[in-house]
Amino acid sequence: MGLQRRAVLTLKKTATPTAPAGVPDLPDRAAVPAHTAETPDSAERGALLAAAFPALLAFYDRERRHLPWREEPTPYRVWVSEIMLQQTRVEAVKPYFERFMRALPDVYALAACPPDTLHKLWEGLGYYSRVRNLQRAAELVVRDYGGELPRDPKTLLTLPGIGSYTAGAIAAFAYGVPAPAVDGNVLRVLARFFADGRNILDPRVKTDFETTVADALSRGTPRPGDVGQALIELGATVCTPANPACEKCPWHDACRARQDGCTSTLPCREKKTTRREESRTVLLLSFGGRYLIRRRPDRGLLASLYEFPSLDGFRTEEEIRAYLIARGLTPLSVAPAADYPHVFTHLVWHLHGVFVDVAEAFDLPEETPLALGGNTPPTPAPGGDCLLLTPARIRDVYPLPSAFAPLTAAILTRKGDKPC
Ligand code: ADE
Repeated sequence: MGLQRRAVLTLKKTATPTAPAGVPDLPDRAAVPAHTAETPDSAERGALLAAAFPALLAFYDRERRHLPWREEPTPYRVWVSEIMLQQTRVEAVKPYFERFMRALPDVYALAACPPDTLHKLWEGLGYYSRVRNLQRAAELVVRDYGGELPRDPKTLLTLPGIGSYTAGAIAAFAYGVPAPAVDGNVLRVLARFFADGRNILDPRVKTDFETTVADALSRGTPRPGDVGQALIELGATVCTPANPACEKCPWHDACRARQDGCTSTLPCREKKTTRREESRTVLLLSFGGRYLIRRRPDRGLLASLYEFPSLDGFRTEEEIRAYLIARGLTPLSVAPAADYPHVFTHLVWHLHGVFVDVAEAFDLPEETPLALGGNTPPTPAPGGDCLLLTPARIRDVYPLPSAFAPLTAAILTRKGDKPC
């Protein structure tokens, strides 16, 4: 165990460890909580990581699973296995991999394979675009690279279906190139090792971790491929998403998340949700104190639930009056009720609710189904999707989705309506 390894091990003993000569120091951990700690730059982290490789390799030599693509890691076998493993568990992949290798033992056989046979070999693994890309890439390898997969990760990246992880995996596992192979499991391991609270779903964070691993590998580790495999192994068998087995971890002492007691909250995975925004004008149409509600379509957002009718966009009083008059109604007054946003998973509604009193007051039993035609007032009709109800009945019998809760509250508390 070298000096750098000891530097990592001493981290938990002092808040500001003094690093041995040549080993970069960490920021003052007492001053900044782990999750927000400014991460040292990639070179510093590369040094820390490189110092932890010997223990990682010892763990790999001792504990690794013996998997077919690891035992004979030719570029072709590594490539096919990594593509299969992208969305499928190791145990499920094994028999598919063995059969695929028997049927198509090299890149020439893959390039020449009839599509139906190829699909049969892949059947059950799903995500068929993977195998289509695999064959297109095989054709290019035959045509442009003499049937030999390139060893340079940048060149590999130009082939269909090969992203930065797969390019790094082929280069490192098969050719021993010191290239980073950082997938989701490896990101988890590294985020914990450095107690890095950044969002690992952010591509910039992934790139930064790749730079760190590249830096660590460039420091002269003798087995770059095995380091990559060992990181995967650690993530799959020890540093698992839930309940990591820290007591079995070769980085038990060096891992900052374990030292800081934050393994369960790392890594941070924040999905960026881009929500569509819509504005709507919601009509609280009062027919003599009874309000019109309408059932939504059977499919889509809030399917089959009742709502107040609405118009797209924010409408002026004139537009609202014109809309109602065109439907044979006589608007008496239009007054603001409530304005608020309602946030769905993929959508934000900006709602502008208005009270609209109309002159028509249908003398119908409650719950008479009404149809709201394109240019007719609500008309009783069997199977009609509208109802005229008192606010209390809406509250008690036809509760509207929470998107409309402030408007239901507005009609319930509105002065001047008949007591409910
Ligand atoms: N998952 C992705 N790549 C893997 C590999 N090479 N070994 C085990 N599991 C993996």
